[in-house]
Amino acid sequence: MSTAKIAVMGFGVVGSGTVELFYRNKDIIEKRSGTSIDIKYILDLRDFPDSPYRDKFTKSFDDILNDPEVTVAAELMGGKTFAYDYTKRLLSRGKSVVTSNKELVATHGAELLRIAKENGCNYLFEASVGGGIPIIRPLHKCLAANRFEKISGILNGTTNYILTKMIYEQMSFDEALAQAQALGYAEKDPTADVDGHDATRKLCILGSLAFGRHIYPEYVHCSGIRKITLDDVEYAENAGYAIKLIGLIENTESGLVATVCPRLVSVNNPLSGVNDVFNAIAVTGDAVGDVLFYGRGAGKFPTASAVVGDIIDAVKHAGRDIISLNWSDSENSDFIRPYKSAEVRMYVRVHAPEADSLKPLITSLFGYVDFIPRKRRSEDELAFITPSLVESEIDEKLAQLSKSAELKKKIRLL
Ligand code: HSE
Repeated sequence: MSTAKIAVMGFGVVGSGTVELFYRNKDIIEKRSGTSIDIKYILDLRDFPDSPYRDKFTKSFDDILNDPEVTVAAELMGGKTFAYDYTKRLLSRGKSVVTSNKELVATHGAELLRIAKENGCNYLFEASVGGGIPIIRPLHKCLAANRFEKISGILNGTTNYILTKMIYEQMSFDEALAQAQALGYAEKDPTADVDGHDATRKLCILGSLAFGRHIYPEYVHCSGIRKITLDDVEYAENAGYAIKLIGLIENTESGLVATVCPRLVSVNNPLSGVNDVFNAIAVTGDAVGDVLFYGRGAGKFPTASAVVGDIIDAVKHAGRDIISLNWSDSENSDFIRPYKSAEVRMYVRVHAPEADSLKPLITSLFGYVDFIPRKRRSEDELAFITPSLVESEIDEKLAQLSKSAELKKKIRLL
């Protein structure tokens, strides 16, 4: 039996996890692939003289590209520069590429899928969304019969870890971020996590798969968790909600609405109980109804689990395009609806001297409002939840309110 030779490009957290997992479970991996497999190259510019895999390291991408024995490469380098160039060249040579690189898939997915198809190989990215959670295959295979109505999810482990520490341990934002970095959850540049860009990329991938047109990150309204304070966390809790960074894409009659932002999630919604590094993705299809996917959304071995799963699939189906996985490119965003035109409920926190005296004004502006209680609430603070209204109308009403109060925070509800 010939041995399938693979290459691992990038020996960071996910790359080293992939190599380690591969050798740890090589027996079952080969059994499930139906063939013998080995890692022939590990590409990294750094030296690893003490690594048990030191004989496999190369600094030259050409070694991999020009070796006819290599049929599958795992691109685990991240970023868009070298990763994009290398992936295109590998696919053009008919070598399958598997990746956890959501930035690359979200930006160039349509093109890379097309190149793979043209060259009879595969571009697989199960690890790009939700770490170890199976979501890409279920979306485009098991759920392929459905028209999708909505996808909502906690798509970033780092921010969920931070928010969990803030909610349950009153830990400061900076301390929680440092812990998430130490645990290997965060991106190289953690601002991508904290400011919502990582979750946006993942939402783009899910949305593109579900709705068939490439949703670029700039089509998504994105804001992160930097401005969430322990005050907001406490108000939310008192009202029966947890604050989560939520990626949401909804299919409405007038287009898709795509947002990544913090939201108050009701304790009755299973997403509110998703804590630490865990991610969860809720998918609503017209036939299946609601389906929830849950698991570890970041980290060395959960992500490696998805990468190695893709390697097995690519090896098993070498030389043919196994998947219907594709979406068409989109030249403009005319299928995306402005998020401010959608209806939403909003949590609002304001400051004003004797803030309670504003209640009649707030009620006259919004109609029925839930004022949120808080122990030891200072006299100059008030928090409330609006009824469901078009967001641009809420903004107009808040502009009127801001003549009498300082607007401190507004956070959408899910
Ligand atoms: N930085 C990402 C996260 C890694 O925290 O979710 C997994 O994509």
